[in-house]
Amino acid sequence: MGKRFTLAITGASGSAFGVAALRRLAANEAVEEVTLLLSVTGKRCLLDETGLAVKDLAAFSPKIRHHDERDLGAAISSGSHRQDGMVLVPCSAGALGRIAAGISEGLVSRAADVCLKERRPLVLCLRETPLNRIHLENLLRVHDAGAIVMPLMPGFYARPDTFEALFDTFATRILDQLGLEEADSRRWKA
Ligand SMILES: Cc1cc2nc3c(=O)[nH]c(=O)nc-3n(C[C@H](O)[C@H](O)[C@H](O)COP(=O)(O)O)c2cc1C
Repeated sequence: MGKRFTLAITGASGSAFGVAALRRLAANEAVEEVTLLLSVTGKRCLLDETGLAVKDLAAFSPKIRHHDERDLGAAISSGSHRQDGMVLVPCSAGALGRIAAGISEGLVSRAADVCLKERRPLVLCLRETPLNRIHLENLLRVHDAGAIVMPLMPGFYARPDTFEALFDTFATRILDQLGLEEADSRRWKA
């Protein structure tokens, strides 16, 4: 049986990282389905920074299913629905705060909450700088609840010569955290 993941783009800068991770996830042969979520501001940041709309992302692959952020009746709202993990990329400080506080008011925060309670991988790619004490406390809180805190801090040791290479390398690291290791010539070799 193929694996099922959820990818959420929330309202922070860096939506191109989310686009690259979505492409990688959908292209991975072990993956059967990717549920795509965007918060209201996530849609706006996506359009501002990449010129893409939700329908463009959904067109990447037939494996991608988009659900509206307000659709709390979606399957991923329930722990009984089989899922293999979730990533928020980028993850806004607001989304982090809602997850840290257990406020499941929309599908993004509910699906993340389900991942934590079901002990499934939840990767949070926070994009905010500088960080205040509330952000730092929330990061520790979600870490202690089982989330993987993976801020949008790409590595430069592979000398990426384009933004796309940078986004794609980071996308590979996200897949690593979701247990989907891929061949990548840009891994560090001593
Ligand atoms: C254009 C734009 C850029 C933003 N960039 C960031 C950001 O980089 N990081 C962040 O934490 N919030 C950022 N925000 C604020 C969040 O989008 C806002 O707090 C929102 O309520 C977060 O909720 P969401 O995660 O459901 O989208 C930005 C907002 C806008 C309109």
